[in-house]
Amino acid sequence: MISRRRLLSAAAASPLLAGGFRAVAAEPVPPPGAARPPLKDLAAAKGILYGSCAAAPQLLSPDDFTELLVRECALVVPENEMKWADMMGPGESSDYRLGDKMIDFVTGHGMLFRAHTMLWYWRTPGWFTEIADRGLAEKKMLERVNDMGTRYKGRVYSWDVVNEPLKPDDGRPDALRQSVFLEKVGPQYLDLAYRAARAADPHAKLVVNEYDIEYDTPEQDTKRLALLKLIERMKKDGTPVDAVGVQAHLSVDRLPFSAKKLRTLLADLAAFGVELQVTELDCTDERAPADIKERDRMVADEYRRFLDVALDETAVKVLVTWGVSDRHSWIVRHETNNMKWRTDAEPSRPLPFDAALQPKPAWTAIVQALDHAPKRGAA
Ligand code: XIL
Repeated sequence: MISRRRLLSAAAASPLLAGGFRAVAAEPVPPPGAARPPLKDLAAAKGILYGSCAAAPQLLSPDDFTELLVRECALVVPENEMKWADMMGPGESSDYRLGDKMIDFVTGHGMLFRAHTMLWYWRTPGWFTEIADRGLAEKKMLERVNDMGTRYKGRVYSWDVVNEPLKPDDGRPDALRQSVFLEKVGPQYLDLAYRAARAADPHAKLVVNEYDIEYDTPEQDTKRLALLKLIERMKKDGTPVDAVGVQAHLSVDRLPFSAKKLRTLLADLAAFGVELQVTELDCTDERAPADIKERDRMVADEYRRFLDVALDETAVKVLVTWGVSDRHSWIVRHETNNMKWRTDAEPSRPLPFDAALQPKPAWTAIVQALDHAPKRGAA
């Protein structure tokens, strides 16, 4: 439900557009050097944890970016360092050193740690994909879950146990992605993994993290429904799942958006008793003009129309942007799908702070969405 207060402030700012969001012509951003509250404080006032991903050097070789990250964030996610294939040591062993250092840094600075991710089809070691025996594959998969869960036991706010489990296009009635785990272990792999994760670290919230569920397309309609069915089924079977992550990799002017459909998805998920997390918010600008003012306005509008809905749902307790500053982003580094790359020479501007660490209109959009958000019980 859109609160009266939100409607009033929206009306004061500008007329409501068809999608139910406010388009604001000029985005006031604090001038350089002006005092501004950290995003984590504005979020905490509403019972929301604000955080970002970080790569190891961004924490372990401290600079002005590290300072900004620590100032703004209540929670940090390792960008790649805890993905299985990124941890490969000799043979089948794992190298935990960067993960260990990151969790030490994050918790040592009083921040929470959002662990990502135990199992992701896209980052699975080659040796695992070559296992022929089903029983052996199950054993190795569960060893991975148990290793990660027990190593960081008691220090993790939440664990992405399986990342991106769904792909309706693969044609299965249960819409599970035809992933390496499904192929090697069978469709029960999900339940086995979540049970093992719970046994390994009973206090970490166990998350199902998904993407392409934010926009209004027939494909995303199907995926939203598949996600609802999956969570319903896991709950019914007693499989431990505590939270659902909505990645929220947005793009300017790429796909239609329905506030109603996003609102309904979040409410329907919340009705299963799971916490909701926005886990990887950022926004590509390949369809926006080079002009920085205009581009930043468009990116901010995309943030706003998503966040106005997402933060209105009180089950959303975590808001993570996939980076804080355009200085470090997988989008700027061209690690996304190439259809999301700009075709001119301009670097993308996907995050709330620019490369010089100054707040951008997307920052203002986050601040305003937090301001409009109803207060919720803390996570
Ligand atoms: C991305 C990282 O940001 C990149 O550095 C890496 O090259 C690929 O993975 N969904 C996820 C994240 O769950 O782990 C991905 O992170 C972005 C998409």
